[in-house]
Amino acid sequence: MTRMLLVVFFAIVAVCSCQYVLIDKREDLLEPEPLVPLPDGRIVGGWPVNITSHPYQASFHNWHRHSCGGVLIAPDWIVTAAHCVSAGPHRYSFRLGSHLWASGGTVLMATHLLRHAQYNATTIDYDIALVRLSMAQSAVEDIIGYAQLPPEGWHPTAGSLATVAGWGTPFAGGSLMDELQEVTVPIVNNESCQEFYSDLSNRTGIFITDRMVCAGFTEGGQDACSGDSGGPLMVDGYLTGIVSWGNGCARAGFPGVYASVPHFVPWIKEITGL
Ligand SMILES: *[C@@H]1O[C@H](CO)[C@@H](O)[C@H](O)[C@H]1NC(C)=O
Ligand SMILES: *[C@@H]1O[C@H](CO)[C@@H](O)[C@H](O)[C@H]1NC(C)=O
Ligand SMILES: *[C@@H]1O[C@H](CO)[C@@H](O)[C@H](O)[C@H]1NC(C)=O
Ligand SMILES: *[C@@H]1O[C@H](CO)[C@@H](O)[C@H](O)[C@H]1NC(C)=O
Repeated sequence: MTRMLLVVFFAIVAVCSCQYVLIDKREDLLEPEPLVPLPDGRIVGGWPVNITSHPYQASFHNWHRHSCGGVLIAPDWIVTAAHCVSAGPHRYSFRLGSHLWASGGTVLMATHLLRHAQYNATTIDYDIALVRLSMAQSAVEDIIGYAQLPPEGWHPTAGSLATVAGWGTPFAGGSLMDELQEVTVPIVNNESCQEFYSDLSNRTGIFITDRMVCAGFTEGGQDACSGDSGGPLMVDGYLTGIVSWGNGCARAGFPGVYASVPHFVPWIKEITGL
């Protein structure tokens, strides 16, 4: 009887931890305030997209369920958000080469997890991690591709259009999408982003740092959301950001915040040898 209760208890704990991972950093800061009705769409305000447009896009599975996005940068290396990685590698796998998170393509197991040593869960600073994979299989190599890292010294220009993709929810508090979605948002310069978040930063202690890059329309309406964390923000064909956090999703005056890949290129190269 005791044993049975324990089994039930651990089953509940397992379910709860899965659910918790779905509520990623993108929602943690949500303030109690009515949500503005948003355009019907995916991601938020986006549209379905063929995996061939984002051949490096991975669905990051935690116990076989989509929890985050990931970006393939080499046959055996994925970049994702540090806040997506909390346990040992045995519970994590990645589906690549499919526009559906739950089927198709190929599933590769994580073998090593490397969260940035300076990642701070309180300030969401240095929100980047590298995951080593069992090698990509040749069967799907024609679909799978690698995201290109920006050259050292390159930074996105404010106003340039960035594309973000994922299976995340179409609004804060919604359910995951079955099919990959994408949306296009302009890069916001660091100083403007700091101003947009100034009041919230003063109240929460979460500041926009040089390890972050922001993207979004001032009027909101289009953004990444929960479940998109760890996925790619692309500018001019370069991996520019990793979905990290935001105040709710697609709210006016709160651009999405991404880990700045240009800042982390030396770190990525040092670890992967790319
Ligand atoms: C994606 O594009 C390829 C090549 O154009 C096509 O063969 C495939 O059917 C498309 N898949 C979906 C799900 O639209
Ligand atoms: C995270 O940042 C906060 C605020 O700067 C600091 O108080 C805390 O010690 C940091 N935590 C770690 C683990 O570095
Ligand atoms: C953000 O800050 C970094 C480091 O200070 C800078 O190199 C980069 O150009 C800035 N990006 C934007 C879009 O303002
Ligand atoms: C946040 O704090 C800084 C430093 O104290 C201050 O200059 C700024 O005006 C504050 N921002 C808001 C919106 O209150």
